[in-house]
Amino acid sequence: MSTAKNNEEIPNAHLHELMVKELQDLLGAEKQLLLGLEKMASAAVDDKLKAAFRLHCQDTENHIERLKSAFGALGLPPRGRRCKAMAGLLEAAGEIAAEFQDSPALLDIALIAAAQKMEHYEIASYGCALTYAELMELPEVTLLLGQTLEEERQADELLTEMALAGINQAQGG
Ligand SMILES: [Fe+2]
Ligand SMILES: [Fe+2]
Repeated sequence: MSTAKNNEEIPNAHLHELMVKELQDLLGAEKQLLLGLEKMASAAVDDKLKAAFRLHCQDTENHIERLKSAFGALGLPPRGRRCKAMAGLLEAAGEIAAEFQDSPALLDIALIAAAQKMEHYEIASYGCALTYAELMELPEVTLLLGQTLEEERQADELLTEMALAGINQAQGG
């Protein structure tokens, strides 16, 4: 099924199929996350956390557009696949929100932990896809994936800061 097989000039062309699968998984994951972040924003107690989740919704829309551009650069239709991993992480976030809904101080910290697991999944997936693109010497795809990877890392760092602030508040410090 690989479309790279007939393009012998691309180095490491055997990675093409792996990269396309990773991009399809990511497109599915980002679309699922878009809905999930909206729910997590509604569930969060702290206004700053709500705002952070909503801001990352906007980032996520950009990530979806970049993935579509990456498919375009590869001459492929932007086809996503349902990401089972993201579905599981979102399901877990829903459970944790229900479990801690009567403990507002802990609810936000738990939601941040759930969100960070999703960001780490994205970071791992974009990291793999980016490495494939670099090895295949595809500059446009490399640039697009690199931009998103950087934003995922920033989102993760922001969540860590918010978690630490929330933990301090919860213990009255
Ligand atoms: Fe993303
Ligand atoms: Fe993200």
